[in-house]
Amino acid sequence: MMKLAPSILSADFGKLYDDVKKVEEAGADFLHIDIMDGHFVPNISIGPLVVESLRNRCNLIFDVHLMIENPDNYIPQFVKAGADIISVHVEACRHLHRTIQNIKSLGVSPGVVLNPATPLETIEYIIEDVDLILLMSVNPGFGGQKFIENTLFKIEKLRKIIDNKNLKIDIEVDGGINLNNVKKVIDAGANVIVAGSAIFESDDVSKTVENFKKLGEQ
Ligand code: DX5
Ligand code: ZN
Repeated sequence: MMKLAPSILSADFGKLYDDVKKVEEAGADFLHIDIMDGHFVPNISIGPLVVESLRNRCNLIFDVHLMIENPDNYIPQFVKAGADIISVHVEACRHLHRTIQNIKSLGVSPGVVLNPATPLETIEYIIEDVDLILLMSVNPGFGGQKFIENTLFKIEKLRKIIDNKNLKIDIEVDGGINLNNVKKVIDAGANVIVAGSAIFESDDVSKTVENFKKLGEQ
């Protein structure tokens, strides 16, 4: 079954709670929260304060995507703010294994993220330590970019690796996914779909969430 993770990066931050409530009530599974520091990626978004205030008002699974340098320094704050899943970029972690163990030891589900150009081989020796693998299908930093088609091969390859090892790991894909291309992302083997602009910039947010969910059931 496909799980839908609306990315609040494309929400209206002036009425963030309303937007979040809308996707929650329409049947979203995760809330995808993009944390950007202006160093690892060329954009700045939000920090733990905002995550914490949403936590008191929302029951979705908080899927925190850290696009920051030195993630180890901030993981405890995001745990405290209410993250359920924390994903770190391979490219930002000098000691990836240690960082993953650190997330686990704080009682949160660890995820690992790969940029479009980063090969699957980089996670070969930690794959059994994570609950989720997030494949970027755009270069991280901004919402509303175009889906990079090569990601489909990467998803297929990862799906084979996970199934051959009999592992229960979510394959999440992030960037440029909309109602027209989500089906091929799922068919390639993904089971968690991030969508930002396709949801929050649509005319009817609730309807769009429902339409995504329907496509995920087919
Ligand atoms: C990009 C972020 C994404 C972004 C996706 O760096 O990680 O989560 O919000 O937005 P769309 O779905 O518009 O590509
Ligand atoms: Zn993201």
